[in-house]
Amino acid sequence: FNAESFRDDLIRWFKEEQRLLPWRENQDPYRVWVSEIMLQQTRVDTVIPYFNYFLEKFPNPQALADAEEQEVLKAWEGLGYYSRARNLQNAVREVVEEYGGVVPDNPEELGKLKGVGPYTKGAILSIAYDTPEPAVDGNVMRVLSRILHVEDDISKQSTRKLFEGLVGFLVSRHDPSSFNQGLMELGALICTPKTPSCMLCPVQNNCRAFEQGIETELPIKSSK
Ligand code: ADE
Repeated sequence: FNAESFRDDLIRWFKEEQRLLPWRENQDPYRVWVSEIMLQQTRVDTVIPYFNYFLEKFPNPQALADAEEQEVLKAWEGLGYYSRARNLQNAVREVVEEYGGVVPDNPEELGKLKGVGPYTKGAILSIAYDTPEPAVDGNVMRVLSRILHVEDDISKQSTRKLFEGLVGFLVSRHDPSSFNQGLMELGALICTPKTPSCMLCPVQNNCRAFEQGIETELPIKSSK
């Protein structure tokens, strides 16, 4: 495994093959934040129209902070997991009150906001602020468990921590946004759960699971 070629191949592939998604139009941290919250329990195809509508209705933190909670829940209707919407509005109100409507660019302040866990924090810092922080979700764990042949149970909190450490080491220092989004995109388009398209994979030559023909046996997941 060569970390440098892995990084370069992943970033080059992402730049060429990424889907054009509305939250990728610019690096506005508020847009990144809203998209990552919506994407946590909901598929990309479902999120797209909700995201566009939500951003039209609440184009910036001030607009979302000023809205009635009922309006926000109405815009979220059909997405489910409504606590996501409530937490998002509460956190955005805090951003308006405490930080003048500017989404914080550091892990300490971001991590204190309601509903912003390690994944969302890392996604905002890397995608919006080009900071080399890990953003590890289930898809990223699947991809990396195959590439690095990690057999730890991804249902465990300690395994997530392990992957955050690995990504913290691996993440590109010059393009953390493309690196982290590249991992997500690889998980969505190539390194899929049941039948990964290894023949099309840009990092096939750096994948230990492919080398051993065990890609469909990873990741290991005890529960859910
Ligand atoms: N899933 C989670 N975050 C994503 C993103 N930024 N783009 C596409 N899929 C995602």
